[in-house]
Amino acid sequence: MLTLTCPHHPWYTLSMGKQPVVFRTRDDVYAFIHATARNLDPGSRYKSELMQLIDGARTPQDIEQCLDTTPNRGRLFAGKAWHTMSLDDKLVCNLVTNETEPNRFTPSEFCFFEEVLIPHFIRRVTQTQRPVQILSLPCSMGVEVYTLAGYFLEHYFHRFRIEGKDNLYAVIRQARTGTFPYPGCPRDMTVHISADIQGRTSFDVFDITRGDLKKQYDAIFHRNLLAYFEARTATQVLSSLIRALRPGGYLIFDRFVVDQQYPALFRGMTTLERIGALPIFQKTRDAKDHDWFFESQ
Ligand SMILES: C[S@@+](CC[C@H](N)C(=O)[O-])C[C@H]1O[C@@H](n2cnc3c(N)ncnc32)[C@H](O)[C@@H]1O
Repeated sequence: MLTLTCPHHPWYTLSMGKQPVVFRTRDDVYAFIHATARNLDPGSRYKSELMQLIDGARTPQDIEQCLDTTPNRGRLFAGKAWHTMSLDDKLVCNLVTNETEPNRFTPSEFCFFEEVLIPHFIRRVTQTQRPVQILSLPCSMGVEVYTLAGYFLEHYFHRFRIEGKDNLYAVIRQARTGTFPYPGCPRDMTVHISADIQGRTSFDVFDITRGDLKKQYDAIFHRNLLAYFEARTATQVLSSLIRALRPGGYLIFDRFVVDQQYPALFRGMTTLERIGALPIFQKTRDAKDHDWFFESQ
């Protein structure tokens, strides 16, 4: 296992496998929470809720026990993955939830996929003779990836690969199993993803705040994460996503971040064109691959 300690965030160990953070005291845990929350929206109540929850616990072991036995955001949404997490993961997923569900798109978004996105993909495949490359980041336990793959196959579009990326090892491990509990069904009823779908998907750990993506994609789904970040980090993440998008490609966000959390940021973008009132943008074909995407910069 290759392990590097990050000088700016000593609480993080960047590794090619998962290396749990070692907490010796309660203060170590608090310092980890503060460091992790540094690039999150200061107005978010998640950090204070987490601090309240673990207040009174005296050791890292007490804190973990408290998280395991008290209802909390992380445990609620991580499902089976919760029990495979180290304490640092359990803390992190209380700051940004793993909440996800199948078919988490509006009817107008599905309509866009059918009428615009799939025809765009078909043109790309005809031009390049290669499958289109799609990214779902963050993918949590893979449900968004599997929803999209199933949708494209149902619509007779087969020439695609979808990569799912998320910063939590535990959810990526869960995604790779190709199983997830179906909402509304008893806990032990599990959806099993067909080999046909699994063969077109792959999953990796990746933290979008820690550097650029290495490839370019024809479409990027970035849903239900950007709004958690404070403004500077959100701008950097957005720039990174734009760089990783091919000219003509589509970026698919959620309505909350575009219309409520950061409307000015989205209005100021010079290299993306919004598709009507949808939280979906196309990278204008003549966009230069430089760092400045916003009118205000
Ligand atoms: C609310 S879920 C969204 C999942 C999916 N896109 C959806 O809409 O159903 C947010 C996910 O973001 C992940 N996440 C948080 N910070 C991240 C980061 N810096 N880089 C990549 N993923 C991150 C979390 O682990 C969590 O799984």
